[in-house]
Amino acid sequence: MCGIVGYIGTQPATEILMAGLERLEYRGYDSAGLATVLEGKIHCIRAKGKLKNLRSKLAEAINPSQIGIGHTRWATHGKPEEYNAHPHLDMTRRVAVVQNGIVENYQELRSELKSKGHEFLSDTDTEVIPHLIAEYLSTTTELDGFFKAVQQTVNRLSGAFAIAVVCADYPDELIVARQQAPLVLGFGQGEFFCASDVTAIVPHTRAVLTLENGEIAKLTPLGVEVYNFKGDRLRKAPRTLDWNPIIVEKQGFRHFMLKEIYEQPGVVRNCLEAYLNSNWHLEDHPNFSPINLGLPPQFSENLEQIQILACGTSWHASLVGKYLLEQLAGIPTMVQYASEFRYAPAPITANTLTIGVTQSGETADTLAALETEKQRRSGLEAKFQARILGITNRPESSLGQIVDRLIDTQAGIEIGVAATKTFVSQLMAFYFLSLDFAYARQTITQEKIAAIIKGLSQLPAQIELILESQERYIEEIAHEFSETKDFIFLGRGINFPIALEGALKLKEVSYIHAEGYPAGEMKHGPIALLDAKVPVVAIAMPGDVYEKVISNAQEAKARDARIIGVSSMNKNEASSIFDNLLSVPAIEEILSPMLTVIPLQLLAYHIAARRGLDVDQPRNLAKSVTVE
Ligand code: M6R
Repeated sequence: MCGIVGYIGTQPATEILMAGLERLEYRGYDSAGLATVLEGKIHCIRAKGKLKNLRSKLAEAINPSQIGIGHTRWATHGKPEEYNAHPHLDMTRRVAVVQNGIVENYQELRSELKSKGHEFLSDTDTEVIPHLIAEYLSTTTELDGFFKAVQQTVNRLSGAFAIAVVCADYPDELIVARQQAPLVLGFGQGEFFCASDVTAIVPHTRAVLTLENGEIAKLTPLGVEVYNFKGDRLRKAPRTLDWNPIIVEKQGFRHFMLKEIYEQPGVVRNCLEAYLNSNWHLEDHPNFSPINLGLPPQFSENLEQIQILACGTSWHASLVGKYLLEQLAGIPTMVQYASEFRYAPAPITANTLTIGVTQSGETADTLAALETEKQRRSGLEAKFQARILGITNRPESSLGQIVDRLIDTQAGIEIGVAATKTFVSQLMAFYFLSLDFAYARQTITQEKIAAIIKGLSQLPAQIELILESQERYIEEIAHEFSETKDFIFLGRGINFPIALEGALKLKEVSYIHAEGYPAGEMKHGPIALLDAKVPVVAIAMPGDVYEKVISNAQEAKARDARIIGVSSMNKNEASSIFDNLLSVPAIEEILSPMLTVIPLQLLAYHIAARRGLDVDQPRNLAKSVTVE
């Protein structure tokens, strides 16, 4: 939520900041702005709406300043209007601040500052920050007065925030601080960067340092100094990212979402390479796990229960995970919305593994729920102690600071706001975890494990086949739905979460109302919604619930609904049930979510593209939800 970027060095800052914001725009796009320091003045320019509006305004305002900060906003406090856009300035226009997060005590600070004569121009929480810094600055003549003023200020703020600050009186200093919101520093040759995400930094340097909670840093053209909020200097060194900037380009695809859908076979291959023990053969090596997640034995010792905390698409992946953990490894598993758990956690149970699932590793609700779990278990007797595992696509994220171990889902950066490849990579993590536990607990035979592994290794080719054979067809039928108002998605068993995910993808990118239901629940109420105007997508894969789903689809058809089947059934058979068939290869039911989700992603994408919508940056959304 919101992207911040900062630069100090030897080149004109404006274009570097704009390019950084373009790479962060997925985090929010309600408004954007820049502030640079030149000839003892702050030059600030802001625009409502997407970055392109800021770019058009910039044409007349470009300057050669070599220091600056930028922001792209996802509105929390105050409407998405220019007067609420960042950077925010103090009354004398000497201090400019960009923030990602929420200052929870801003009302209190605002009243205090107002009583001292400060006047505010925006509705935001952020505006108190430059005012407070200016207030502290006015009482100091020290050489490092700017740094001290920011330090005093961050100690007054509560909430989750990451900030970058420049001051007209200190043109060689960029001060940044982090408390529960992401902030990464980049180290170039005589130039330094800060950003909410490494994507904005990798085109310039791969030497990065992730700031930790309660840290504040001073960036000058000579280097970077990191301190804690108390002011103690910390010795920190950057690490080298093995990222290739090219992966953050569209590479000929019209949208990132489509490119990321097409990357899925490669993502599955990466996961197989990373986590399958390639020398495991049923006959030769029955005595070690086929899975190599590197988890410590105490994670599985005496394990009685698993609880999974997640939001959105990660929550859907977790529901598939629950099915796998219960059916393969026999471990009772519950899945909770992190946003609910944090205020009403389930009673503490013994020998419980908690799994936080978040592709970004920055979702505020998920992090807070995991912190809650950690806190409430600390100091309890051994069997109640927290064991926390994270499943994320961003091992360098804040999640890593909370959990004991991480599974890196290896999907590569995902830019489209709608999660696609990170979802299938989370499913892969759950297949591996369930098989690992199943192997250790001997809940299924080695032959069954071998069969599932074989099935997993066939997935990349099968996903490729769906992409090749279905995309054109889905694109063709998409135009028939461009005026549709409501959709229903049905699935049962392990494909019920896929119905939820299909509906979420469609809602997010096409703004069409869609609901996912367990197919058997339709008759208990939602069937009343059906008529010829409400298409029903039914996921019908051979297995335990195949006939049941087909019956449920027939019931919908009898109410005049148009039925779109996602199935491996042959065309002839399908034509008597479905009006449209989105065909997927035949597969073991337990592996089928890996295939059934693909046509649903394509359907959502093509309907949205046909409606002419901004698929990669849907309205009101942001890629990582770093506010509550
Ligand atoms: O980064 P996370 O996986 O924690 O994100 C959770 C949700 O915000 C996210 O899945 C959201 O629902 C996506 N936009 C789904 O496409």
